[in-house]
Amino acid sequence: MTEANIVLEAKNITKQFPGVLASDNVNFDLRKGEIHALLGENGAGKSTLMNLIYGLHLPDKGEIFVNGKPIEIKSPNDSIAAGIGMVHQHFMLIPVFTVAENVMLGDEVTKRGSLDRVTVAAKINEISKQYGLDVDPNALVGDLPVGLQQRVEIVKTLYRNAEIVILDEPTAVLTPQEAEDLFRIMRDLTARGVSIIFITHKLKEVLAVADRITVMRAGRVINTVQPSETNEAQLANMMVGRQVILTVEKKDHAASGDILKVEGLSARDQRDLETVHNVSFTVRGGEVLGIAGVQGNGQTELSEALTGLRAPTGGKVTMDGIDLTGKSPRVMTEAGLAHIPEDRQRHGLVLSYSVADNMALCDYYRPPFSSRGVIQQKALDENARKLIDAFDVRTPSPFVNAGKLSGGNQQKVIVARELSRHNVKLVIANQPTRGLDVGSIEYIHSEIIKMRDRGVAVLLISAELDEVMALSDRIAVMYRGQIVAVVDSKKATREQLGLWMAGAHVEAAQA
Ligand SMILES: Nc1ncnc2c1ncn2[C@@H]1O[C@H](COP(=O)(O)OP(=O)(O)OP(=O)(O)O)[C@@H](O)[C@H]1O
Ligand SMILES: [Mg+2]
Repeated sequence: MTEANIVLEAKNITKQFPGVLASDNVNFDLRKGEIHALLGENGAGKSTLMNLIYGLHLPDKGEIFVNGKPIEIKSPNDSIAAGIGMVHQHFMLIPVFTVAENVMLGDEVTKRGSLDRVTVAAKINEISKQYGLDVDPNALVGDLPVGLQQRVEIVKTLYRNAEIVILDEPTAVLTPQEAEDLFRIMRDLTARGVSIIFITHKLKEVLAVADRITVMRAGRVINTVQPSETNEAQLANMMVGRQVILTVEKKDHAASGDILKVEGLSARDQRDLETVHNVSFTVRGGEVLGIAGVQGNGQTELSEALTGLRAPTGGKVTMDGIDLTGKSPRVMTEAGLAHIPEDRQRHGLVLSYSVADNMALCDYYRPPFSSRGVIQQKALDENARKLIDAFDVRTPSPFVNAGKLSGGNQQKVIVARELSRHNVKLVIANQPTRGLDVGSIEYIHSEIIKMRDRGVAVLLISAELDEVMALSDRIAVMYRGQIVAVVDSKKATREQLGLWMAGAHVEAAQA
């Protein structure tokens, strides 16, 4: 490889945030037409480095070169002009706008004073065809599944003629099929000379698609390696600086009586379509019931209907004998429900509140956090310090706004709060480890198993079949809004579960 092949080079980049050296003299380069994966534990500085390259933050020190020329990036306008595009960890699309409106946002084409939708739509169709992206310019973004929304973000970068595309954890929210489609798109892009920086926590993906892998830890680059000369265990070790147990240790544990009882539950989605049909199951104290299924088969509405975020349209939900059907999240919480929601920024956190306040979000009005109607700051701080330590939340202090934390550390704040609450009888965990690094996943898995061993009922909903298989005592498969099978996890095979998830006809095998 000669220098001429390098399309992007970041040299000696340093960025200090209050209390965190997020980028510590980082060197990173990208070759033409390659997929360069960027790995690292939560808070390592991956998104920060990309935000610096994209012009969302200014570096304290360092230089960025595009095609060998130094460029000054003061805002995304400069990076876009230099051919850089970025798809963010948390999407930035406007749901009530169409695809075309979102794509042209900030770069509006007008004709005699009004938006020229026809020209834009034509260009989108052309890009879409060229790269096999298959997006409809006139669709409303809010109606599209996540996988397609992400393609809109990619189209948006290509529409601005990006030759360097940054994908920050694009697969975290995708189904396995959508992820496969994305990898195909990525290969099509690189075949046409586009260069890609790909951030992910999934080591298998990295080994499968990357041309080179760079690992970051604590703001520094640790190493750059070829997939052919490494493996999952080594990468995990490089990321977190210690050996990681990639399997879950779990002993047999006798379950007690039913805690969660769901009878004939139905629910409708945003568009008023019934996506949960007449679902019945139970979760016993001391067991983990995992719900496996391809995303979009009603899991979101099911978990919302069970946690007070969505009113069920039929059926009954009881917890330890108490009828909780259609009750508010607060009533459910008080009855002993802990909930790790799927969408951390919408339902899990108040981003403008401190980490300490977020860690007491469900209990702030009760002792020890409140006494005679007065908030007890000391109790809030103590609680936060304890949880930050136990769950290894990377934050300069408990007083920082949750929105300043890295994506994975935001997730850890929610998990820490929910798993540490008093008098929990039932945990409903929806994608509990989404966006977490391997070390954090290991810890949270062991905490979930500890809850179960203490007799708590755990309902785990996860798009990661590996996670469902590793944690569950029984596995229920959800397909098109129904539970199509329930099996003892010891008897479950990946192949059989996969078939049920794909809708193969089943005689529900009751465990
Ligand atoms: N705007 C900001 N203000 C203050 N601190 C910030 C800001 N953005 C990031 N940080 C801090 O910089 C560090 C690196 O964060 P970054 O988001 O780059 O991590 P990451 O590697 O992308 O992690 P993750 O895998 O969790 O997404 C973190 O400690 C974070 O708290
Ligand atoms: Mg990040």
